[in-house]
Amino acid sequence: MSESASFSAEAYFATQPAPQLLAQEIAGVKEFVARQAAQNRNVVLVTSGGTTVPLELNVVRFLDNFSAGTRGATSAEYFLKAGYAVIFMHRQFSLQPFSRHYSHSTNPFLDFLALEGDGPGADTVGITAAKRADEDLLAVLTAYKRVQTAGTLHTLTFVTVDDYLWLLRAVSQELSVLRRRAMYYLAAAVSDFFLPRQKMSEHKIQSGKGSLHIEMDQVPKVLKPMVEEWTRDGYIVSFKLETDQRLLIPKARAALERYGHQVVIGNELHSRKVQVVFVERKRKPMTFVESWLRIAPAPSAAIHVKEIEEDIVAELLRRHEAWIGEA
Ligand code: PMT
Repeated sequence: MSESASFSAEAYFATQPAPQLLAQEIAGVKEFVARQAAQNRNVVLVTSGGTTVPLELNVVRFLDNFSAGTRGATSAEYFLKAGYAVIFMHRQFSLQPFSRHYSHSTNPFLDFLALEGDGPGADTVGITAAKRADEDLLAVLTAYKRVQTAGTLHTLTFVTVDDYLWLLRAVSQELSVLRRRAMYYLAAAVSDFFLPRQKMSEHKIQSGKGSLHIEMDQVPKVLKPMVEEWTRDGYIVSFKLETDQRLLIPKARAALERYGHQVVIGNELHSRKVQVVFVERKRKPMTFVESWLRIAPAPSAAIHVKEIEEDIVAELLRRHEAWIGEA
């Protein structure tokens, strides 16, 4: 695949179709934001998971972006715990706050039930493990119920990069009424290239012609219009994922210079669960400030481990508070 044309954000929205239920989804967001505003709550939009790029209109094949949604789902829980309301915009079937503790791949719920079902024959180790699992479930359930009662979590789903960009624009515009009280936490892994509708084959691409050549267009970088047009004074946090750690800081600095938002959090693929770097631009004097945040690696896949998102969110709450205070 070779790189080709790049769309401006306006050209993109003028030519690529909006998701069918967009108006309905946004009506829900408007109502949610108004309710949180009435209760004087800060609201954070958390984007999470990877976007897909379909290759056919009747889609059989698509390109996907790496992300399990761990960063977004875990962070959302810590924001909720801190009293923020959360709009959780995530890739369908990626991890979600609370239910993530019993995801099919990391901690299958059936295994949890099997642990419970050990019965009278269970040995001491089995019983202790079951009791511990009970306590964990109770803690998760209690936190989840508290959020349900408070009505502070609103969930939206996307699959394709089209869904993501249309939703991101519309939700940002709705949330901008909160001005500095709104935070945008962009942890989703967004496709850099896509196939415009106009170039897509209607039916399944046939394999009879041998190798496949596809020329994709560049997805517009929406952080610029997001900063300059869609949000007013919002606190915008973007993530930068690299596999070469040496690129993190230069790329993060370049993003801050190009888009003018508040913070870039850099993470390297393999160490992202134990260290990240916060990069910020100070205006007087004009400098970049970097600070690393690290936690000790977990000794094993034990149930009770420290999650780096707890510290990421704590640090952002502090910075957001200061940002609100500066106004
Ligand atoms: O979900 P996990 O498995 O826990 O993984 C989490 C993560 C590694 C995916 C996450 O921490 C992360 O780094 N996400 C950002 C990935 C990335 O490098 O994105 P990017 O360089 O394509 O984009 C940079 C930022 O701009 C992102 O915040 C993205 O949401 C935003 N963006 C990008 C392109 C685009 N067209 N529009 C955007 O808004």
